[in-house]
Amino acid sequence: MARPIRPLRPRRSELATPASNDWMFAKSAASAADLVFLDLEDACAPAEREAARGKAAKALRELDWGNTVRAIRMNGVDTRWAHGDVIDVVTGARSALEVIIVPKVRTARDVWWVDTLLTQVEETLGLPAKGIGLEVLIEETEGLENVGEIVRASDRLEAVIFGAGDFSASQGARVDGNFDPLVDFPGDIWFYARSRVVVAARSVGVDAIDAPFPNYQDPDAYRTACDRAAAMGYVGKWAIHPSQIDLANDAFAPTPEDITRARRLVAAYREAEAAGRGAAGLDGMLVDAAHLRHAATVMRTAEMLGLTEEDA
Ligand code: GLV
Ligand code: MG
Repeated sequence: MARPIRPLRPRRSELATPASNDWMFAKSAASAADLVFLDLEDACAPAEREAARGKAAKALRELDWGNTVRAIRMNGVDTRWAHGDVIDVVTGARSALEVIIVPKVRTARDVWWVDTLLTQVEETLGLPAKGIGLEVLIEETEGLENVGEIVRASDRLEAVIFGAGDFSASQGARVDGNFDPLVDFPGDIWFYARSRVVVAARSVGVDAIDAPFPNYQDPDAYRTACDRAAAMGYVGKWAIHPSQIDLANDAFAPTPEDITRARRLVAAYREAEAAGRGAAGLDGMLVDAAHLRHAATVMRTAEMLGLTEEDA
């Protein structure tokens, strides 16, 4: 697995906010979301998209975002808005913009195009080179076919998002408004796509983020979706409504029990190692180097989130 050069950022919840709706910005900035993205793409009416760039840049610059990662979703590289989104928002927001989400990525060239344009803009404005990171949305069947090359297209890449909404349309799937199958379907209709995305993301050491969940009136189903994504290795999920933030933050954080167990596991392994053994026993289970990697992930996540056994 390649080592990411990008900063480590929490991404348990990624809150979508239409960039045209500036009356919503203060609430998003003050929310507990790990990342907020001001959306210049599908949540923004086409007639509003150009004016929304200035609103987004102003909010990124002027609001108090606390520890929240500040992002925008630009329009796809095959639209007339793409270059203007990058140039106008980066020029207006400068270092207040940390991440750009690129939607509907189909090929590695799409990512290269955004990376190269960003490099030009950063240089023109005197911003730190490669200061702005990228997240890409895999939501086209062509994008999923090419995801192995897409994740290697830019060293700005920080995360790969599975976008079930557009993906289901691209695939021609017969689904309801929450992207669930209209018929009784054995298993998870998106299992292949979700697996492919998380494996590709982890193969280059970046985060995988799960799809939006439109049915914001069903918190239990959202929580279940978070838990299932976390089980597969996803580290976060989109929130399309503020009520989904806490659910995602909780689901994707290690529990106090997880942290305690990770600590005990490391201690048991180190003790065995000091005694010249490669494996140890813990609570009736064999513990070896693979378990140590799991424990390291839990500890790293807990540390990044500032959690301890007591307050996780
Ligand atoms: C997100 O953009 C999706 O289409 O699911
Ligand atoms: Mg989409």
